Amino acid sequence: MVTVRSILGLAALVPIAVAAPLEERAKSKSFLKQIDGSTWVIGNELWNVTQGQQYATKLMYKGKDLVGDAVGHYVSYNGAASDLNWTSAAIVDSGSNYINVKFTAVGGDFHWVIYDDLVGAYQYFVNRALPVLGEFRTLWRLDNQSFPNGRTNIKDGVLPPLSEYASATNVQDETWQKADGTFLTKYDWSAFIKDVDFHGVYGEEFGSWYINPGKDYINGNHLKQELMIHRESKTGDAVQLNMIHGTHYQAVSRDAFADGKTWGPWLWYLNSGSQSDAASRAKQEDRAWPYKWFKDAAYQSRGKIQGKLVLSDGRPAAGAAVFLGDNNPSVSSLDQGRDYYYITYADENGKFSIRDVRTGTYGLEAWSNGGKIADVSTLHRESEIQIRKGSNTNLKTLTWKVADVKKRIFQVGEFDRKTTGFALSGPHPYEHGRIANCPTDITYRVGESDTSDWCFGQSEVGSHSIVFPLDSLPAGNSSAAKLTVSLAGFSQGSKADVLLNNVKIGNITDMPNSQDTYRGATQAGEWRLLEFAVGAGALKAKEENKIEFKVYSSAQWRGWLWDSIILEWV
Ligand SMILES: *[C@@H]1O[C@H](CO)[C@@H](O)[C@H](O)[C@H]1NC(C)=O
Ligand SMILES: *[C@@H]1O[C@H](CO)[C@@H](O)[C@H](O)[C@H]1NC(C)=O
Ligand SMILES: *[C@@H]1O[C@H](CO)[C@@H](O)[C@H](O)[C@H]1NC(C)=O
Ligand SMILES: *[C@@H]1O[C@H](CO)[C@@H](O)[C@H](O)[C@H]1NC(C)=O
Ligand SMILES: *[C@@H]1O[C@H](CO)[C@@H](O)[C@H](O)[C@H]1NC(C)=O
Repeated sequence: MVTVRSILGLAALVPIAVAAPLEERAKSKSFLKQIDGSTWVIGNELWNVTQGQQYATKLMYKGKDLVGDAVGHYVSYNGAASDLNWTSAAIVDSGSNYINVKFTAVGGDFHWVIYDDLVGAYQYFVNRALPVLGEFRTLWRLDNQSFPNGRTNIKDGVLPPLSEYASATNVQDETWQKADGTFLTKYDWSAFIKDVDFHGVYGEEFGSWYINPGKDYINGNHLKQELMIHRESKTGDAVQLNMIHGTHYQAVSRDAFADGKTWGPWLWYLNSGSQSDAASRAKQEDRAWPYKWFKDAAYQSRGKIQGKLVLSDGRPAAGAAVFLGDNNPSVSSLDQGRDYYYITYADENGKFSIRDVRTGTYGLEAWSNGGKIADVSTLHRESEIQIRKGSNTNLKTLTWKVADVKKRIFQVGEFDRKTTGFALSGPHPYEHGRIANCPTDITYRVGESDTSDWCFGQSEVGSHSIVFPLDSLPAGNSSAAKLTVSLAGFSQGSKADVLLNNVKIGNITDMPNSQDTYRGATQAGEWRLLEFAVGAGALKAKEENKIEFKVYSSAQWRGWLWDSIILEWV
C-alpha cells in the first residue's frame, strides 16, 4: 500500500501522470441538455429553465414553474423591437462545481455561469455585432402570482394589478389615469441605477433579484436613471428588468460597441422572497467584485486612481461628483456609454479614489454635488489619464477653475444638477404629474425667500420670477452681467421667454427632449446649462430688478426641472 506521502515523494523524483482520467474527475452537477435544434434545458439540482429560440420558460424551482404563462427570460435591444435569437449553446468552461453555458446569437453571446449549490446564475453578455443602439437589456417576465411585489432601493410594494389598468384611461406612454384622478405608470418604479443595491420581484414563497456589483458596464454618470421593474400593462407579467444600456430619461444616448465589450457578470438570484437574504447576498457580491473566477484577461486587468480637487479660490472641492469615462468625449458624462464608467464623490478635503478601474485611457469630469461647493457652476475636466494594471495612477492636486463669488448678485438653489431644496422635489424622486402641482406663478425675493419657495419644475403658462434689489452697480463703467440657468432636466413641449425688467434676454424652448418631467422625474433628467448675456445698463441700481421665466405655451407635464439660477457681473 502506498501512502500519500510516498506518492508525493515519488512525484518529486519522476514525472507521472497526475490527472485522473476524464470520467473520474469531479464533475459539476450543473447541466446543459439539448432537447432539439432550438431547445435546451440548463440548471442544476435545485432549479432549471428551458431555453427556446428567444425565450427561456418553465423556470422550475421547489416544484413550481415560476414563469407559467408569462414570457420568461430574454435579451433584447431598442425597446422590444429586437429580441435576440439563440442559434446554438455549448458549455465553454467548467470546474468541479460549475459550468459556463454560452448561448450564441448574431449580436453576441449570452452566458449563464451555473454553480451547483446556487439558486440562480451569474450572467454576462459579450458583444459581437450589436447594432448602434440606445436600449439594451436582459429581463425576466415572471408568473405574477408568485411575484406580486417589487423592490428597488427606493420603492417597495405591490405592483398595481392588471385589473386597475383595464379600468383606467391611457394618457400617454405607459401611463393611465384612474377614476379617482391618480395615475398608474411603470415609471413609478424607476431609480438612479448606479445607487441600486439590488432589485427584483418577490412574494411569500419566491424572490427573483438582480445584483449588479461594479456596474462599470452600464452607461451614464451618477444621475443615470432607469426603469427597474414593472407590471406588464398588456399581459400582467411581473417584469424584472436589467437595463444594461438605457435611455429612459435621456435625449440621445446611442452607442456603437467594440467586438468584445462585455456587460456583467451580474448575479441573477432566486430565493424564498426574503429581502434580508437578498441584501446580504448583495453585500457578499459587492465584496467579491471584480469576480476572481471570471476568466477574462481584459476584465481582470485593472488599476486604481486617486487625486485631490482644489478650487481655484483655495477651497477643497468638498463632496464633488467625480466621473471617469471616455477620453476627450464629444457628449456629456450622462450620455457616454460605449465603454466602461466609474463614479465616486470627493471627500470633505476634495480627495477621491476609485479602485478596480479597467486598464485604458480615460477622461475625468468633476462637478458640484451641492453642499459646501453649491455655488460652483463650472465643470473640471482632465484627459489622457492612463490606468495601468495593478498600479495606482495618482493625479495629485488638480486645480478647478471657478468663478469669482464676489461678482455674484444672487443664486437661487444649489448647483448640483438636481432639484435639491425646491418645493415638491421629494421625498420620492418619481411621481407622475407632480409638476402640475407647482404654482403657475412664483415670486422669489432675494434676501427674503427660502429655496423651498421656488418649485422643482415649471410647465404651465405663467411666470416664475426672481425679484432682487440692487444697492449699487459695480465700480467702473461696466454693468454687464451674465445669467446662468442650470436645468436639472428638460422635456420638450413648453416654451418660455427669459425677461430682465420686462425685456427679453433669451428663451427656454427647443432643446433635445430627455423625457424626464412627463415620466414623473422630480429630481433630475438630463442636465442643461444655459447662459444669457445681460447688457450694460439693463440692471438698475437703487431699484428692484426682476428676472422672469415666462411660459407662453405649455404642453401638459412637459417643461423643465430647475437646478440653480445665478446672476453675476462679468
Ligand atoms: C427540471 O426540474 C424539474 C422539477 O424539479 C424536474 O422534474 C426536471 O426533471 C428537471 N429537468 C431536467 C432536465 O433535469
Ligand atoms: C429573431 O427572429 C425573429 C423571427 O423569428 C425576428 O423577427 C427578429 O427580428 C429576430 N431578432 C433579431 C435581433 O434579429
Ligand atoms: C396576472 O396575469 C394574468 C394573465 O396571465 C391576468 O389575468 C391577471 O390579472 C394578472 N394578475 C395581476 C395581479 O395583475
Ligand atoms: C469703460 O468704457 C470704455 C468705452 O466704452 C471702455 O473702453 C473701457 O474699457 C471701459 N472700462 C471698463 C472698466 O469696463
Ligand atoms: C431661443 O434662443 C436661441 C438661442 O439664442 C435662438 O437661436 C432661438 O431662435 C430662440 N428661439 C425662440 C423661439 O425665440
